[in-house]
Amino acid sequence: MIELRRLHHVALAVDDLDAASRRWTLEFGLLVSETGPDRALLVCDDGAPAVELLTDGREPGLDHVAWELSRDCRLEDARAHLDGIGVANEEVDGGLRLNDLEGNELHLLPYAEPGSRLVPHARPAGNLAVGHPRRLGHVNFLTGRIHDQVRFYGEALGMRLTDWLGDGGAWLRLSYEHHEMALVDKGYSHFHHLAFDVVDIGQMRAALDHLGRHGRWLGWGPTRHGVGGNIASYVRIVEEACFVELYCDMEKIAADHEPRIWPDDRYSSNTWGPLPPRSYFRFDQAAIDSERASLEMLGQPLDDVPGAPR
Ligand SMILES: [Fe+2]
Repeated sequence: MIELRRLHHVALAVDDLDAASRRWTLEFGLLVSETGPDRALLVCDDGAPAVELLTDGREPGLDHVAWELSRDCRLEDARAHLDGIGVANEEVDGGLRLNDLEGNELHLLPYAEPGSRLVPHARPAGNLAVGHPRRLGHVNFLTGRIHDQVRFYGEALGMRLTDWLGDGGAWLRLSYEHHEMALVDKGYSHFHHLAFDVVDIGQMRAALDHLGRHGRWLGWGPTRHGVGGNIASYVRIVEEACFVELYCDMEKIAADHEPRIWPDDRYSSNTWGPLPPRSYFRFDQAAIDSERASLEMLGQPLDDVPGAPR
C-alpha cells in the first residue's frame, strides 16, 4: 500500500544560491531553516517545509517534488507498492526517488513526527517574520499525457481524483483539500506552479503589494476558480521558470466524494471573469516579454513561434 500525508517541498535548481535564498525569503516571507554549500531549505513556518533551493548543475527550474508518506505507510511499504506495479525507484538519503511518466522527479520521504502538534498560532514564533504564507499547498504541471499521468498519480502514489475540467485538466487530492496536485493538458510537459496557502484575500493583497514592489507581476488573477473554489493569484518567477500561486478559501472535499466533470468553459476557470492570457501557459522569452508589457490585453496577440507550445 501507499499513502501520502502531504506535499513536503518543491525543490528548485537555481543559478546562485545566495541570491535565490535572498529573493525567496524577502519576496515571499519564507525562512531559511537549513543551509549547506549547495542547498538551502526554506520554510513557511516551523513545521512547514516549502522550498528547497539547489545548485546541482541542472538548469534553473524544477528539480523535484517531495511528498511525505503517511504515519502508517513505511518507506518499505511504499517501495514494495512501487516494485509491485513496476515503477522504477531507488533509495536516496533515506527516501525514495522515482520519476513520473514525463520524467518529473519525485521524492517520497518517510513520515517525520513534527516538533509540535499544536496549531501554528499556539507555538512560539522563533525567527519567523510576520506575513509568511501558512504552508505549501499544491503543485501544478502542464502535461502532454494527461490521462496517463492521472492514472500514474492514482496508481503509483495513491492520489484520489477530485475533478476533471472537460478532459483538459485534472485535480487530485490526498484527503480533504480539493487538490494537492493538478495537471493541465497543454500538449507539452512543464512544471507550472507551486502554491502557497494564505489566510485570506487580505493577506493576499498585502503579499501582492509587496511582490509588486519587488518587480513581480501577475500572470493571471486574482481569480475565483470554479474548479477548486480557491481565490488565486499567479506571480511569474522568471528565474526558476515557474509561477507562484497565492491562494485561499479552497473547497473542502467529503470522504465519499464522487469525481465531477466540469464544463470546460470560462466560468469553471474563473467565476469572476477573465481567462488567462496565452502567455500564462508558456515560459519562453516571447511569452514573458508579452506578459510583462500586457500586450495581449492591449490587443496584440502572442505569436506562435515554431516549436512553441500552443
Ligand atoms: Fe493551483
